Amino acid sequence: MIIDKEYKLAEVDSRIFGSFIEHLGRAVYGGIFDPGHPSADEYGFRQDVTAMIQEIGVPIIRYPGGNFVSGYNWEDGVGPVKDRPKRLDLAWRATEPNEVGTNEFMRWAKTLNADVMMAVNLGTRGVDAARNLLEYCNHPSGSYYSDLRISHGFTKPHGIKTWCLGNEMDGSWQVGQKTAVEYGRLASETAKAMRLIDPSIELVACGSSFRSMPTYAEWEATVLDHTYEQVDYLSLHTYYGNADNDIANYLAKSLDMDYFIKEVIAVCDYIKAKKRSKKTMNLSFDEWNVWFHTIESDMKIEPWQVASSQLEDTYTFEDALMVGSMLITLLRNADRVKIACLAQLVNAIAPIMTVTGGPAWRQSIFYPYMHASVYGRGTVLRPIVVSPLYDSKEYTDVPMLDSVVVYNEETEELVIFAVNKSLEDSLLLECDIRGFEDYRVIQHSILENGNVKAVNNVYQQDAVIPHDGGDAKVVEGWIHASLPNLSWNMIRLQ
Ligand code: AHR
Repeated sequence: MIIDKEYKLAEVDSRIFGSFIEHLGRAVYGGIFDPGHPSADEYGFRQDVTAMIQEIGVPIIRYPGGNFVSGYNWEDGVGPVKDRPKRLDLAWRATEPNEVGTNEFMRWAKTLNADVMMAVNLGTRGVDAARNLLEYCNHPSGSYYSDLRISHGFTKPHGIKTWCLGNEMDGSWQVGQKTAVEYGRLASETAKAMRLIDPSIELVACGSSFRSMPTYAEWEATVLDHTYEQVDYLSLHTYYGNADNDIANYLAKSLDMDYFIKEVIAVCDYIKAKKRSKKTMNLSFDEWNVWFHTIESDMKIEPWQVASSQLEDTYTFEDALMVGSMLITLLRNADRVKIACLAQLVNAIAPIMTVTGGPAWRQSIFYPYMHASVYGRGTVLRPIVVSPLYDSKEYTDVPMLDSVVVYNEETEELVIFAVNKSLEDSLLLECDIRGFEDYRVIQHSILENGNVKAVNNVYQQDAVIPHDGGDAKVVEGWIHASLPNLSWNMIRLQ
């Protein structure tokens, strides 16, 4: 590998380390909000969970969905809690008690120092509900909805900057699914109305729900044809899994994520050319993760419960490697991916798990996410990487060494994130660090495990945790480090 200070790809937008809380399963009720829990604050939010989120330093949290938002009436979640209705949430076939809504969530996010990426309902609703919610949240005072917020005890506007125009509107599972033309028109008119209220907001239009959607690419082109000058980002979503228990092929799927990003960029740039626009569309990868462990078992869940255990994937060590590779892929595309949200944050496909009323713990995937978010801020450098390659069932020429380099000019820290995907062999990393004279290794943290199926759970919370025993060192301007087979590595230099 060769790293040069001058080979800059892009500044990392800190929002690339975002996450997501949906009204889904026990993400809110029993997850972040659990008034009966010993660590709950005066508003009912668990402080032990908040502390774990702070360890990651999550900069932005998408809310309130996901599929949930496409049937959500935001008005149900504001005002005195005793007057709020219980509603059927059709997305997850659950009962939504509405004890937590916009104001409670905003107040909680503030305690975390996190921004909120608010989604509006373009499934069952449209321009009117979206503009009213924005007025409620961002207008200072003197209008119906801003004064309503004030009457609910929130004098200062929430000042939400980033807004999603609906969620996965191409999907047949979405309540209020649209064709690309229907959605493109609706998103464009909603954006226009919202910007008239608050021109400072940034807007995300829905791209395809997956790369394998039948309308993929055509959807992006049509939606952008209608919205190009109105929106700032186009969204991407993806989830991977190892259902057929083929780890080599599983870990190779980060290539799919990379192809997906590159293809969506190509479509964005095609529309830019078509419109002779000066504007470059950036990407919001606002749902990404591993999700497959619970898909079948969740089908047996009794409907219409409040906060049942939905999507509670227990993540293995190999899942943490996959999440690490996905983080590396996002960072390597930091010139166009400005926002990304690990979906999700607590209990539902999440790095943090809880027992309602009981303990909280960190899943295996917590660690690469935490490493990347805490240490991956700065400028992504373009490393030159020569790595052995392998072929898997679906992919060819998969680099064994998956890596990215971030240089933080403020702290003068250089960080290499690397996954060794080799099933058997450790890799000897040799890296020429040009322009970084006198740098030495200050940490070589490794996540490794002899058992790829090892998990953390309530009984055994530390079965998969990183250690700082890596052997990376600098000798005459070269890093030498052994990266164990199947491992996530973070090498920090200063
Ligand atoms: O994150 C879980 C679900 O996955 C979201 O609600 C939806 O947008 C996606 O299909």
